Formats: sequence, structure tokens, C-alpha cells
Amino acid sequence: MGVIVGRAMDTAVVAGSASMPLAKAIAKNLGCPLIEGSKRFPDGECFVSLDDLAGRRVLAVQSTYPDDAYVEHLLLLDAAREAGATHVTSIIPYMGYARQDRAFNPGEAVASRAVAHGVAAMADDVVAIDPHKESILNFYRVPGRAIATTAVPALATTLDEWGVDAILAPDKGARDRAALAASRLGVPFDHLEKTRLGPTEVVIKTKDLDVAGKRVAIVDDMIASGGTMVKAAGQLKEQGASTVYAACTHGLFTGGAIPKLLAGGIDRVLATDTLPTDGCDVVSAAEAVIDAVTTAPRA
Ligand code: R5P
Repeated sequence: MGVIVGRAMDTAVVAGSASMPLAKAIAKNLGCPLIEGSKRFPDGECFVSLDDLAGRRVLAVQSTYPDDAYVEHLLLLDAAREAGATHVTSIIPYMGYARQDRAFNPGEAVASRAVAHGVAAMADDVVAIDPHKESILNFYRVPGRAIATTAVPALATTLDEWGVDAILAPDKGARDRAALAASRLGVPFDHLEKTRLGPTEVVIKTKDLDVAGKRVAIVDDMIASGGTMVKAAGQLKEQGASTVYAACTHGLFTGGAIPKLLAGGIDRVLATDTLPTDGCDVVSAAEAVIDAVTTAPRA
């Protein structure tokens, strides 16, 4: 199987309303048309109608969060087929419901799987940007590929401009992402570790790295309430870090998270355009998508 898209003249980017800036950046980068066709009825239901896409390979760009954006994503895939697309790729900038990937208690819906089934019924390929867990892609049973791509290199480019000396992961699970960012910058990396000293005493500190006097960036897949970043920033500043930046692919920023981050020891916040954001620095994740759709799979 080859690349997802080849010649720009055969390709079209279909932009969903939740992911417009990113869709525009992808279309511009590929040099192909950008098609829009989503509206809302007065009752709030979504309506999608797309211009002729006969013979086109379509990239439908729309996060599957929040719920109404997910429904729009399904309608975009369906409309692309109706408009004559020969190949439809679901581009998922922010994959919603990625944290409920199993039934943690009897009777719970496996939300990641349920959401995947709707998309997989209509897409030939799926490309997700920094999904919370890559294993979720196994739920996307498509004829082609269901793959993850990462916006960490885009974040790293900006962090390099900011003069970062070290990269931190907020926990061990996020270490690979920190390692990738650090390798791009040529700086050391580490993760924060929780050590229990007694029944009520817990210490959180960097596993090995001395951050004293350093400009540190914490890199995570998402920031929601900002609690994880604030806790990490507090520890890093206590250990002598001169500056702490918070960088993530997906800026959910729920409940006034950005002011909370800035008041909680974070000096600057960076996110990508996988979600609409306001009040922080933003870098485009378009390059991550271009890489994924123009690179042939490894044999
Ligand atoms: C956790 O597994 C995630 O990678 C993030 O660290 C977490 O979702 C961030 O949430 P919050 O900003 O609410 O602490």
C-alpha cells in the first residue's frame, strides 16, 4: 500500500467547523483545494453538503470532540462519498473519548471503541494527531491504515526559539514524548516521579535531572484543567528551575485553565491548532498531518 495522497491535483481537503485553521494550513501546504460544506439547522442539527469531489482523494479534517463535532465528522465522511470521492481519509486532530478505552467497571461503555466504529464504517484510512493512547487505533478497522502522527516536532521548533534547556514529562507515561522533543532540541530530558515517604508523605521530583537555573518545558499530550502542569511547575520551581513553560498538542483548557497555569508558576503556554485556543501561543500541527499522508508505510 502506498501513500495516502499523492498529487495535489487529485486531492481535496474537506474542512470541518471544529478544525478550520488546521484544515486551511493542510490544504495550503499540499497546494490543493479547501472545501467547506457544514451548516447548522436552527434546532442545532448538522447539515453537510459538499461540491463535486469526483475522482478526488479526500482528507476530511475534523476533531471528534465535542459531541456535535463528532457527528459533523461522520457527516463529512458520508458527504465526501456522496460527492464522488474515490478515497476518504478521516483526519482526527483531537480524538475525543480517548480516555475511556476499556470498561473500568462492569456495564460501562467502551467509548473509544464506540466512537471508532462510526468513523471506521465510512473512512478508508484514519490519521490521528497524538491520540491519548495509540492502542485506540486498533478499534478503527478500516480498509487502509489507522495511524498516529505527532505534533511534538512542531512544539519543539517553538520551544527551541524560546531557548529551552531541558524537557520534562509530567509522568513516566509521557516520557517518550519528552524524549522526542528533547532530541529535536539537543537538550536533556527527564520525567517527574512520585515517591511515597510514608503513609501521608509524598515527594514529587525529577527522576535524575538537576533543573536548578534551567529554562524547562513540560511537554504533555493535552492540558485540560491545567492541574497536572501546575503541580509539575510548582515542583520544578521548588527545585530551582528559572523558567517553566507548558507545552501540549491539545489545549482543551477547561474552566479557565490558562489563567490558572499563569498564576500557578507557568511562564508561557504553548499548544497546537488541533483545538481552537485563545490566550496562549499556538503552533500549527499541519506538518504532522502532511508527513503522515505523504509518507509510505514502512515495509
Ligand atoms: C493524562 O493522562 C494526560 O496526559 C494529561 O496529563 C491530563 O489529561 C491533563 O489533565 P489536567 O490538565 O486536567 O491535569
